[in-house]
Amino acid sequence: MPEPLVIRCRENGPYVVQGAVKIVDHLGNELIPPAGGKAAVALCRCGASKTKPFCDGSHRGFDAATAPQP
Ligand code: FES
Repeated sequence: MPEPLVIRCRENGPYVVQGAVKIVDHLGNELIPPAGGKAAVALCRCGASKTKPFCDGSHRGFDAATAPQP
């Protein structure tokens, strides 16, 4: 059985998806991570990124403990 995909919640930062992953938009178009995303992809968790769904580092000051929950 293959190992499960690992998504790590960084403390007050993005969701980091480790390993090869393909991310597509609502139409099925592939979204290419800014850094290439071969080993890991960081997905925005704070809502402030200008390159959503990818993290661009704009989460500085984001506090996951007090952020509104979906
Ligand atoms: S989590 Fe990094 S910009 Fe949102």
